[in-house]
Amino acid sequence: MVKNAMTADFLRSAYGGESMAHMRYLIWGEIARKEGFPKIGTLFEAIGYAEYVHANNHFNVLKEQKGDYTVPAGGVFGIGSTVENLQGGIDGELHEVEQMYPVYLQTAEFQGEKGAKRSFHYALEAEKIHAKMFKEAQDSAKSGKDYDFEAVYICPVCGYTVLDESPDVCPVCGAKKEIFKEFK
Ligand SMILES: [Fe+2]
Ligand SMILES: [Fe+2]
Repeated sequence: MVKNAMTADFLRSAYGGESMAHMRYLIWGEIARKEGFPKIGTLFEAIGYAEYVHANNHFNVLKEQKGDYTVPAGGVFGIGSTVENLQGGIDGELHEVEQMYPVYLQTAEFQGEKGAKRSFHYALEAEKIHAKMFKEAQDSAKSGKDYDFEAVYICPVCGYTVLDESPDVCPVCGAKKEIFKEFK
């Protein structure tokens, strides 16, 4: 149950932003595959799943606030080359890391909203990793190379994202290795 209107508004906006990011990354992932970057395609798809996890968490915190809302939320638009689309990914993730989630998290903390605080914390930690991975992928794509990894693993509880091997325990939420979702 969310008691405070501002935290509830932030949850709805974050849900909107994550929902759009999820879809946008699927779209950009298809373009990466067509451009001959199958691994970058997989990275977009995997990170898109992490954004679904975040959207799902925010939606669940709001499960008792039933009704119809108009939701303002930030989203990056446009389709370009994979290098350009990765810049869109970097820009969106950095906005979340540097502007949006720190403020949402502080508000939830100030208002004593434990569920929202956890949900914002999970997203903030994952987005830091996403920004870094998109930057590395972009550096590869700029030199005409695909991003190099065996698999991407996503924690289905918090969206924590890691390359090549899932940890025994998720460092952000404590989920077990066996439940991580693999993208190849
Ligand atoms: Fe992200
Ligand atoms: Fe996790």
